Amino acid sequence: MSIKDEVLKRKTFAIISHPDAGKTTLTEKLLLFGNLIRSAGTVKGKKSGKFATSDWMEIEKQRGISVTSSVMNFPYKGFQVNILDTPGHEDFSEDTYRTLTAVDCVVMIIDATKGIEAQTLKLFKVCRMRGVPIFTFINKLDREGREPLDLLEEIENELNIETYPMNWPVGMGKRFLGIFDRYNEQFVQFNGNEEETYIPYADLDKPEHANLVQNPTFVETKDELALVDEAGNEFSLDAVLKGELTPVFFGSALAPFGVQTFFDTFISMAPAPTPRKTTEGVMSPDNPEFSGFVFKIQANMNPAHRDRIAFLRVCSGKFERGMSVKLARTDKPIKLSQSQQFVASSRDTIEEAFAGDIIGIYDPNAYRIGDTLIEGKESFEFDELPQFPPELFKKVTAKNVMKAKQFKKGIEQLVQEGAIQLFKDFRTESYIIGAVGQLQYEVFEYRMKNEYNVDIMFESIGERIPRWLKADQVDPNLFDERNLLVRDREGEAVVLFKNDFSLRWFIDKHPKVELIDLFEVN
Ligand code: G4P
Repeated sequence: MSIKDEVLKRKTFAIISHPDAGKTTLTEKLLLFGNLIRSAGTVKGKKSGKFATSDWMEIEKQRGISVTSSVMNFPYKGFQVNILDTPGHEDFSEDTYRTLTAVDCVVMIIDATKGIEAQTLKLFKVCRMRGVPIFTFINKLDREGREPLDLLEEIENELNIETYPMNWPVGMGKRFLGIFDRYNEQFVQFNGNEEETYIPYADLDKPEHANLVQNPTFVETKDELALVDEAGNEFSLDAVLKGELTPVFFGSALAPFGVQTFFDTFISMAPAPTPRKTTEGVMSPDNPEFSGFVFKIQANMNPAHRDRIAFLRVCSGKFERGMSVKLARTDKPIKLSQSQQFVASSRDTIEEAFAGDIIGIYDPNAYRIGDTLIEGKESFEFDELPQFPPELFKKVTAKNVMKAKQFKKGIEQLVQEGAIQLFKDFRTESYIIGAVGQLQYEVFEYRMKNEYNVDIMFESIGERIPRWLKADQVDPNLFDERNLLVRDREGEAVVLFKNDFSLRWFIDKHPKVELIDLFEVN
């Protein structure tokens, strides 16, 4: 098979959701389709003490280490599916954001009873901002939820994206009858169990369906659907692929209901790996020479190994185990002898991979997040991974001053790895570390102790709003502890505003000072 054919088969995506929206349940169903697991329930049931394959990082955490996004891959109907798991909000970190740079689209799960939940909004917005195609699965239709139109409106308003309902639910909760599968022009009947009945629209007036079509909920919904057909957005695959329109599927991951039609339609529409920008122009996924970038480095994935694994997204050519490549940053050759593909917690050695695939390579302490690996003679780097402004900040010091050297070394390495972001107080030069989620501090503390033998102390300075300053507008006299002036890793000046009020007050007082928000979404 040619490289081009291999690339066209790849569907690489992440599933993102608020905790409890049903990500684990849906992932499990997809793994069943892919025959990666044999029966439902082997994976689910956090409360019963079992765990999901995709939740294996939880186990790693209990052993005292963390944090990864696992990668699951399986062949499905002629495609090669790569699912990247993203940790939920409680385990939120910059890794979650970076994972989004390695996928070609995302599936966003929303709980029909809740709609978009605040803590997850930012994650969704990052996808929107980066133009990642978003497919929406509105879950838990077997429960009494919010009105479909209301949910669509919320998605449109919050994410500034158009929606196109691929199907339309008839009733919810106890009155749930099934869905109008608009895309495939059939009614999918819910029978209260896993069996779904598919009735083409044209067959709905057959006598055996009289009971169904005369049901008041059915009649009512048919009228509603006529309105949606008339007044709703047009479907455009082009707009989907540009990230401007999200196809919305209603269903129930648990029942399961509507999952098969969702997945089949999603897989047929999801983009294959697309060309990626580099410093020397665009790299096509079917370029015969191998290239890829590191989007994540995982230390101590397995305590027994105590090794580091760099996660690489293949962007072109063919990866072969043992091949020699060049690390673009240093221009030095490096041999990729130990490589792994991940099926959640098990590691299989991988012999070859193509654009869209995610592989784990042994990291002899050589890689950094964002590093480009190239097979050919040319030199280029993939676009820098975006920096995501942290929200939590803590001052950090070594408990034992005698350990200053290890302390510094540990911090520098962990910063390089992207585990945390480092800032320095403008005046005192003391270290301040920023994180997107609390877990990053826990991992940081654990690793400082275990890998560098340094006990650290934190002093929280709370949630802050970071704003970057232009170099010629830095006036330390304008800031104090409240609105703390710091420098980032590159030496750029950043103000950590205490809260929204302080920020607005400052803007009011000093309208000429330009404050740059790296996280502006809309
Ligand atoms: P998460 O990974 O996004 O955190 O969500 P997860 O799949 O674990 O689902 C969260 C809860 O919602 C689970 O119940 C799960 O059974 C339930 N759930 C998922 N999909 C559906 C659905 O389509 N309909 C209904 N009614 N419930 C759904 P739990 O009681 O928290 O856990 P468990 O003990 O049942 O596993």
